[in-house]
Amino acid sequence: MRIFLDTANVEEIREASELGVISGVTTNPSLIAKEGRNFQQLVKEITGLVDGPISVEAVAQEAGQIIAEARILAAMGDNVVVKIPVTSQGLKAVKVLARENIKTNVTLIFSANQALLAALAGATYVSPFVGRLDDAGHNGMEVVADIVTIYAQYGMETEVIAASIRHPLHLLEAARIGADIATVPYGVLQQCLRHPLTDVGIERFLADWEKVKDR
Ligand code: E4P
Repeated sequence: MRIFLDTANVEEIREASELGVISGVTTNPSLIAKEGRNFQQLVKEITGLVDGPISVEAVAQEAGQIIAEARILAAMGDNVVVKIPVTSQGLKAVKVLARENIKTNVTLIFSANQALLAALAGATYVSPFVGRLDDAGHNGMEVVADIVTIYAQYGMETEVIAASIRHPLHLLEAARIGADIATVPYGVLQQCLRHPLTDVGIERFLADWEKVKDR
């Protein structure tokens, strides 16, 4: 199990990286827009901060244009993975990019069948959106579990990134069902790390130590 950080904020990436728990980063156009920075400079900086896959999304809609954009994005860093939405144009692009050894993360996955098709087209990763499925009244984690089962059954090499993670239980469930990766917002990572009993325990140990340290 690996954890990626789901953000385009360099401070968050630096902090999480120092913890030693993240091995990649995922961004999307909304996360990039939130930073209000020059796109190319921001991506360059992020690729230098983490020595692992950095997903950057292509915004073109037609296969030839997606391929052209993906080549430009991939040239921005050895660790860049091109995120491509799961459309027919997107899958055509994934097929071509796979032959060029350009890594892809097929995104906006909302069903196991979409993930199956993405794997057959040659996706390096797929990103099922758990939180958005939950929001729509479905069980997002069931979709992730189905994808994990199908890929294992046929020895498919595409890795499953549980995405749109909203709270610590999502991470726990993703780990339980065998998702290869969960991409987690910084706030959720903090929630997963902290526990009130850990804070109380440290307080008590320090208070007791104060009583005896000068004896
Ligand atoms: C990551 O790949 C996705 O872009 C991200 O997890 C979406 O999360 P959201 O549904 O909270 O926007």
